[in-house]
Amino acid sequence: MTEIARGLRDVILTETRLSMIDGTAGKLIIAGFPLEDLVPYATHEEVIYLLWNDRLPNKGELEAFRRSLIENRSLPETTMVILRAAAERKLSIMDALRMGVDTLSLVDPEYEDISKEANMRRGVRLLARFPIIVATYWRLLHNQALIEPNPNLFHAANFLYMLHDEEPDPAAVRALETYLNTVIDHGMNNSTFTARVIASTRSDMVSAVVGAIGSLKGPLHGGAPGPAMDMVFEIRDNAAKSGKSVEEEAQIWVKTRLDAKTRLMGFGHRIYRVRDPRADALGTAAEKLFEQTGDTKLYTDARVVENVILKALEEYRPGRGLNTNVEFYTALVLHGIGLKSQIFSSVFAISRVGGWIAHIFEQYAEDELIRPSTTYGGDYDRQWVPIEDRV
Ligand code: CMC
Repeated sequence: MTEIARGLRDVILTETRLSMIDGTAGKLIIAGFPLEDLVPYATHEEVIYLLWNDRLPNKGELEAFRRSLIENRSLPETTMVILRAAAERKLSIMDALRMGVDTLSLVDPEYEDISKEANMRRGVRLLARFPIIVATYWRLLHNQALIEPNPNLFHAANFLYMLHDEEPDPAAVRALETYLNTVIDHGMNNSTFTARVIASTRSDMVSAVVGAIGSLKGPLHGGAPGPAMDMVFEIRDNAAKSGKSVEEEAQIWVKTRLDAKTRLMGFGHRIYRVRDPRADALGTAAEKLFEQTGDTKLYTDARVVENVILKALEEYRPGRGLNTNVEFYTALVLHGIGLKSQIFSSVFAISRVGGWIAHIFEQYAEDELIRPSTTYGGDYDRQWVPIEDRV
């Protein structure tokens, strides 16, 4: 009998130089660098450049790359019309981002040119506008005046500036850059796979990126950090109301969810059977940030909730290796930066688009159509019945 690789578990699709995950040892390599040696130090532009060019930029190259991102921040009028319509309907930020990015073909001055060089420029034009769309949409959703991009601020800092209408704190910018660097690429995750599937038909980069946004939106992929943060807040609120400790309330909350077979957001992973190394990288960033802002209580409470959940998961699913994943600490870092949980998934997209584009480059170079097979599980000998004779 043919064996079916459901969910394509353990299927190796291709070779990549972008990232390597060791799910047993809990190690992640980004383009040759151990995660922890790269993400807290590099600017986000350096990591994008690294993935797209397979080497770090020198000073001049970094400056030119940053300038090219700054020069590509304007949104076409049609994008604004779509974002306004989406805001009126209160659509999710991920949906608005997907629709906004789709309109970017309108400002593609070399629409017909699919050469490598044109695709590199197209990548810059697309990536530069992700944070602009998200910040613009956030302010539209909240009936706030729109803020023009600040040409003196780089990618991450300008995003915070456009969201909050004030020069961001350097500690918040550093924490955001560490986050963006940490989640930029992660093997053959679902959204990257989606981007590669679309690119493998020789379709265009905008189509591949738009498809990937749709994939990332799902709660089993990029949609988890919002609910993870909400969970911590709900448990803290319960503790404040009941007078019980956060630990006791977490035990009650988690038991109710696991008895109902609910998945706990921010835990478990398809590849990692140990703790997700990105959780450590972001845990360190969160701790630093909370120390600087003086709000260590939330961080401590979150650690208490995490420990209760880890114990409960081992009790309910012994031996499954269900551990903390990146999303739990994503929630803490992004909250510490001053972002609300509804925006978390789209900030993930602002980072992951750098990885998607790098994979699209690899897929175009490989030029191999992705087309798996199925086994047929249906009938073979149904009889045609005319519509008037059907019951
Ligand atoms: N809470 C409760 N039970 C869980 C969880 C969880 N977070 N994760 C897995 N399980 C259960 C799962 O239901 C399954 O039980 P059963 O065998 O009875 O069906 C068992 O544990 C084993 O699941 P698995 O094969 O390890 O999980 P998977 O590979 O199908 O799914 C996952 C991986 C990440 C979708 C899943 O762990 C999950 O839903 N986690 C919560 C959502 C989340 O945090 N997503 C972010 C993932 S990290 C960001 C990214 O890389 O996209």
